[in-house]
Amino acid sequence: MEKYVIKGGSKLFGEVTISGAKNAVVAILPATILADEPCVIENIPNISDVTITLQIMSEMGANIRMRNKNTVEIDTRPLRNMPIPYEKAKLMRATTYFLGTLLGRFHSARVSMPGGCNLGDRPIDQHLKCFTALGAECGIDGGMVDLKADRLIGNQIFFDKNSVGATINGIMAAVKAEGLTIIENAAKEPHVVDLANCLNSMGADIIGAGTDVIKIRGVKELHGTTYSVIPDQIEAGTFMAAAAATRGNVLIKNVIPKHLEPITNKFLKIGVQVEQYDDSIRVIGGENYVGTSIKTHPHPGFPTDMQPQMSAVLTCAKGASMVTESIFDNRFRYVDELRRMGANISVEGRVAVIEGVERLKGAPVRSTDLRAGAALIVAALGAEGTSEIYDIFHVERGYENMEVKLRGLGANIIKVEEPDPVSDSAAAKKAV
Ligand code: EPZ
Repeated sequence: MEKYVIKGGSKLFGEVTISGAKNAVVAILPATILADEPCVIENIPNISDVTITLQIMSEMGANIRMRNKNTVEIDTRPLRNMPIPYEKAKLMRATTYFLGTLLGRFHSARVSMPGGCNLGDRPIDQHLKCFTALGAECGIDGGMVDLKADRLIGNQIFFDKNSVGATINGIMAAVKAEGLTIIENAAKEPHVVDLANCLNSMGADIIGAGTDVIKIRGVKELHGTTYSVIPDQIEAGTFMAAAAATRGNVLIKNVIPKHLEPITNKFLKIGVQVEQYDDSIRVIGGENYVGTSIKTHPHPGFPTDMQPQMSAVLTCAKGASMVTESIFDNRFRYVDELRRMGANISVEGRVAVIEGVERLKGAPVRSTDLRAGAALIVAALGAEGTSEIYDIFHVERGYENMEVKLRGLGANIIKVEEPDPVSDSAAAKKAV
């Protein structure tokens, strides 16, 4: 097990380059299963979610060759349709995307119900609604989702709930279906658009991605492509929060400013300076921030994946802030950890009220999930004294070289091997 040890108080200065978007690449890689020729995917982040995805595809028979740590060549022609077991699915939620892509290519799929960040109830009823509408029979037995379809026929689908995953799965299941599929109340996140653009570069016929209505006209085959993944808006937002929390001055490169607008607007509102350029933004922290209200919302609203990191900055803003989490029913598990650092936060259901304090104090804390871990890093960087952040495997699922990038900005952060207290005590007992 590893932990980060962070000595707070260093203002972050310098430049950092943002990696490819985790939530785009975990869809684009499985989407290559739909291609009848090899694909090259560039700007992939070197994170464990990518490693797991490529491992699954390789075990199914795909030929995978890393040209370098951020570029992969994938030939899925030899890939065989195999069940994806719980051992793999529990590692990340994005294994659900194998349902859409395997159904789209083989007209059947068998994938364990997903795992991933524990953010409360995360059903897949909208995914199943989509598959059923296209003609698949959906069954669940022994924790496995089982899909079978003689034919996939385009249909009109209205999502009762705005869902990134269901929208992505619907697109992948429909690209080779017969006829026209119309998805209404579609998610509009940048990673949904990136997937659609990638599939269109392979010869798919998808229009309207990024709007509420996506139209997909089925095609018989998809050719190969060379496609570069968009920059990660949430990684960029996380570095904005780190610059703000340390009152530093950081140029964040390889971003799409448009994707960051809801995040930028909130930082501007609390008193952070942000300068926007074509593919970079400069974030200049101020001495005093003012509290504000945040309500998470599907894109183009304030992203739920930035809620913990923003809350970490608001712990030291003057006055009260109100944070409403409208997407997930349990995304405040990190609050207890921030309280250990002296944050003054009360949580009632989906609303957290943050009373600003002068400064947080370093403490041992635990990442409860990916973005919670990112929030604790932001808090520790701005805190007085030293923090130890445990269970950082959550963070490394979604951030490439986090501690290296932060050290490059002057942060005092190291990654330390942490003996596993449980196994060690068991070993000690045996030794007696
Ligand atoms: C994706 O999760 C992201 N994960 C999440 O990012 C992100 O928080 C979320 O979208 C919202 O933007 C990936 O892209 C791999 P949803 P997803 O389906 O697809 C409910 C991170 O930190 N819902 O948009 O699972 C659901 O319970 C991760 O990078 C249903 O009710 O999210 C939730 O309340 C965490 N039925 C809401 O919709 C369904 O069939 C939004 O979920 C599907 C979802």
